[in-house]
Amino acid sequence: MELATLKRLHYGKLVSEVFMNPLIIPIKNLVDESIKILSNAIKNGDLCVIPTDTVYGLAGDGLNENAIKKIYEAKGRPSDNPLILHVSSMDMAKNITRNIPDNAYKLMDAFWPGALTLVLPKASHVPNLVTGGLDSVAVRMPNLKKITDLIEACNTPLAAPSANLSGKPSSTHFSHVLNDFKSTIPYMIDGGKTLLGLESTVLDCTKEPFTLLRPGSITQFMIEEVLNKPIYTTFKKEAIPKSPGVKYQHYKPHGTVHLIDDLSTINLSNINDSILIHTKEDDISSFLGNTIILGSKKDPSTMDENLYHVLRKCDTPFIKDIYVMLNDQMSDAIKDRLKRASSKGKSHD
Ligand code: TXA
Ligand code: MG
Repeated sequence: MELATLKRLHYGKLVSEVFMNPLIIPIKNLVDESIKILSNAIKNGDLCVIPTDTVYGLAGDGLNENAIKKIYEAKGRPSDNPLILHVSSMDMAKNITRNIPDNAYKLMDAFWPGALTLVLPKASHVPNLVTGGLDSVAVRMPNLKKITDLIEACNTPLAAPSANLSGKPSSTHFSHVLNDFKSTIPYMIDGGKTLLGLESTVLDCTKEPFTLLRPGSITQFMIEEVLNKPIYTTFKKEAIPKSPGVKYQHYKPHGTVHLIDDLSTINLSNINDSILIHTKEDDISSFLGNTIILGSKKDPSTMDENLYHVLRKCDTPFIKDIYVMLNDQMSDAIKDRLKRASSKGKSHD
């Protein structure tokens, strides 16, 4: 769509009409003029779906309580599960935090912009609503230049949880976002398919040694190499999670997700209501039901990239059992998301 048409749509329609029909800007059209439209809307308290290097985010002004309330409402997410603030510069990160440890600076130097979220002591003007009442705030600089340009134009950090209805798989294709938010969010940036496909690594830097709260493409090993010392991890033990979000069993489609090591464990009695998620290399010739390819063991990042798309494809009332063939090439991050998808209980992320 041309910019002139976009502007006409934006200015020529009542807000309620815009809501029924979001203003969609393809990322290649995100230039000065359209950035101005979106940054004005965000500064006015409106929400905008943004692509990032990891997954799509549902963004609003992170220092505006009304915008933050709208985010929780639109997702149906409990407000004790805090949001990440996305920044475009170190100055912005410093402004919303206090006492950043030297080791956190080292990680920012090494991995920002990128898929690493740092939990830091929060500055007093950051609303408690954004941090779920915690004295810390999660901060990340996404690795997508047009999006950091937008944040800079907003001149405020953007609070952005993953753009999915609470409990559903995150969005990695623009169609996922439309599916979840077409009639509720007024502005959207279409960035096609996101690069990494799984959410950022979350690292608690409020106390040394730092603690890995959620695994992502920046691995424990990569962090320890930069720090030159070990860090803790909590994500493997589920007992009392420090990151509020990890107590929720999210990333869940309708059907039950079963993690399997070999095909003989599949219950063949209801094969028509089932689907098998597998890699290109798996020998599935003995399985006669529906199947879908996750990626290739030879290129493990393809499994990360495709996970949510594949889970969403399986997310129909007709599929009651989803079997996932595990393999040793899977990253800690995908194993973590699969474990949550297969766990029982309510979903809220
Ligand atoms: O890649 C990502 O991180 C994406 C993109 C959009 O940036 N965002 C994302 O946000 O995954 P969300 O809200 O779906 O997950 C953020 C996680 C949650 O598990 C939340 O509990 C945790 O970060 N978190 C946020 N603030 C925290 C804090 N102050 N202390 C501990 N954990 C925190
Ligand atoms: Mg999420």
